[in-house]
Amino acid sequence: MTEVTHGLEGVIAAETRLSRVDGEVGELILAGYPLEELAPNARFEETLHLFWHGELPSSNQLSRLQSELAECRTLRAATQYLILASTDAKTSMMDILRMATDSLSLKTDSSTTPRDAALRVTAAMPTIIANAWRRSRDEEPISPDDDLGHAANFLYMLDGQVPSDERVRALETYLNTVVDHGFNASTFTARVIASTQSDLISAVVGAIGALKGPLHGGAPGPALDMVFEIGRPENTEAYLREKLARGERLMGFGHRVYKVRDPRAEVLAHAAAQLAASGENRALYDLALKVESVALQLLEELKPGRRLKTNVEFYTALLLHCLGLPTELFTPTFALARVVGWCAHAFEQLEEGRLIRPRSRYVGPTDRVWASPSREQESVA
Ligand code: ACO
Repeated sequence: MTEVTHGLEGVIAAETRLSRVDGEVGELILAGYPLEELAPNARFEETLHLFWHGELPSSNQLSRLQSELAECRTLRAATQYLILASTDAKTSMMDILRMATDSLSLKTDSSTTPRDAALRVTAAMPTIIANAWRRSRDEEPISPDDDLGHAANFLYMLDGQVPSDERVRALETYLNTVVDHGFNASTFTARVIASTQSDLISAVVGAIGALKGPLHGGAPGPALDMVFEIGRPENTEAYLREKLARGERLMGFGHRVYKVRDPRAEVLAHAAAQLAASGENRALYDLALKVESVALQLLEELKPGRRLKTNVEFYTALLLHCLGLPTELFTPTFALARVVGWCAHAFEQLEEGRLIRPRSRYVGPTDRVWASPSREQESVA
């Protein structure tokens, strides 16, 4: 009998030119570039071009792409109304992002190409998130600024301040770092949907749903909460021991593929250290380092052989906090980077043109004899 691979662990389901993840040595290649080279240097629009077209853009291509994105940032009235109704109902930011992204289909028709839809969804997601965040605080949304790049405009729409170069660089480093990562759950979801020749917005909406779960993109909020709850270095060990004794998982640790420290954690820790260097977050950064080192010791002691190391989410939380983003926006901000990877995978899947359709092994009964329980009850009555 064919063996079942639960959770598809270790199964190679496709070939991709987009990213290579080596979980044994802790290496990530993004469209040919080592993570450590691309992430701290590229503008996010350059990364987008690299993922969608296979090469970095020329300066003309970059400015055309920037204006195309800027043109698609504004939301339709119906999407804005949906956001307003959702924030009134206290819906979570990820659910608002999922529903409002779906409503971008209002602007598409049979002539919309996958690339048109990808541009629209990538350009609109930061506006959706910023609009929802401000509405949830009873503040008027801020219109996009066409003169600002993708990352800078997102920060601007949150608080109305044109961000410093340092903050923009830190956010772009984060967005580049998490743009793509092999066949993670949300990317796989997007590819399954694309493989049916459904539309690109459906693929992105499905992926947002997969990303939201705490075992995937939902981890950084709880990871930061944990550091805040610990509060002081001397509380760390007792707090983490109790948590593990209750059978809880430490958010920001462990990974299906990485059995050594996630290389993304290194890049983000470095970016967070630079942001926190002189400011009020220095003590928090030092506490996070302490939490990481004690967590690794305890995981080794209490879960020997599982090779549970720091994953990307631990330092995502710290970096985004140092950038001034609220916890509620951590996973939505992850989505606005990963959408570029989802779209690139959808393009690749469309090129491949093969429906993704694995099989299951049936383990239920096969010998039932039909007798309707409801009709038997009627005859007894
Ligand atoms: N804390 C404590 N124990 C853990 C953790 C953790 N963070 N992660 C795994 N374990 C333990 C499990 O309890 C299990 O123990 P057991 O063998 O005694 O039953 C063992 O390690 C193996 O766990 P699995 O669930 O089989 O590992 P899997 O590869 O399926 O899990 C996952 C990967 C889901 C990321 C897991 O490590 C986890 O839950 N981490 C915390 C959540 C998190 O940080 N998610 C973000 C991942 S990065 C991303 O998706 C962008």
